[in-house]
Amino acid sequence: MNRHDVPTPCYVVSLPALDRNLEVLGSVQKRTGCRILLALKAFAMPAVAGRISAALSGTSASSLHEARLGKECFGGEVHACVTAYRDDEYDGLLSLVEHVVFNSFSQWERFGPRALSAGKRCGIRINPEHSEVEVPIYDPCGPGSRLGVRRRHFREELLDGVSGLHFHTLCEKNADALSRTLSAVEARFGDLIPRMEWVNFGGGHHITRPDYDLDLLCSLVTGFSEKYGVTVYLEPGEAVALNAGILTATVLDVVPGDPDVAILDASAAAHMPDVLEMPYRPEVMGAGKPGEKSHTYRLAGCTCLSGDVIGLYSFDRPLAVGDRLFFGDMAIYTMVKNNTFNGLRLPSIAVEEADGSVSVVRSFGYGDYKNRLS
Ligand SMILES: Cc1ncc(COP(=O)(O)O)c(C=O)c1O
Repeated sequence: MNRHDVPTPCYVVSLPALDRNLEVLGSVQKRTGCRILLALKAFAMPAVAGRISAALSGTSASSLHEARLGKECFGGEVHACVTAYRDDEYDGLLSLVEHVVFNSFSQWERFGPRALSAGKRCGIRINPEHSEVEVPIYDPCGPGSRLGVRRRHFREELLDGVSGLHFHTLCEKNADALSRTLSAVEARFGDLIPRMEWVNFGGGHHITRPDYDLDLLCSLVTGFSEKYGVTVYLEPGEAVALNAGILTATVLDVVPGDPDVAILDASAAAHMPDVLEMPYRPEVMGAGKPGEKSHTYRLAGCTCLSGDVIGLYSFDRPLAVGDRLFFGDMAIYTMVKNNTFNGLRLPSIAVEEADGSVSVVRSFGYGDYKNRLS
């Protein structure tokens, strides 16, 4: 089987593409001595955990379940960075992780003592109030943010037991954004950093993008860790599986519109939610911008939502029922976010080897839909 005959809809993760990303991330670790964790919220696929854990230092978890997956399947260090811990899950979480990051001093006061007595390394998430992200829902430093402690709310008198600071402020950014962010972090929190053993620079570093400035990243990380004598952690999600997966879908119908609409067996709303949430227009292999090629279509999902629309694309040939399309960069923030709206079947999950052969590691059916609602 290959990507042209695997049953659709299906996420197909390319192992060579994933390995290329891991090689880049591994080289950053080697050059700088930093530790890179996979942020499981972006990509959490047990079938490829072995190659990820061989290359990286561990995982970062935003919930009990992610921490368990990190521990069970990925190994290495597991860091918890949870917006608010809950009492009924906390002891279970502590048994799985090495680092615990607290998003507020009230959480630190409430949950810190148990973490310290369990021998965990504890950190505070800070908010340097420096925005680099243009899309407000993805900007942790936007007005009214609940993510991280601002300097004016910081309680230095409670720092006993805190060995690290964590910030996460970026999204799909190059190293220049990290450089400006570090200046903001140092301006607001620089006096506290020498008291720390580690600083986590969060995610949002698009390290595996072709134009990413790896040299600048490496000099920033090395400079920071030498200046303050701290271990630097990075916890990218996207960069680990960037451009390492596609979603393949089949045209179910073509209906008249302005332009005509191709209805697919995949859905923006259910299977690629960031297309609507961000929003953005994913690449479709072989397709052009509207009007660029002879036949322009609106590509749309098969749910009842009027807005379940992926975008306008043009093709060399007219689209017909049964045609197969490939959406690019669909490994990240897709499988982890998808849903069964309208009772749609979840896309299967497959891996693709270097020779193009594809094997399905999981397919879904009625039971998965029913179980979530029963
Ligand atoms: C705390 C934290 N760390 C890491 C990440 C991963 O970010 P990305 O997938 O953009 O690299 C996120 C994403 O929201 C995050 O909130």
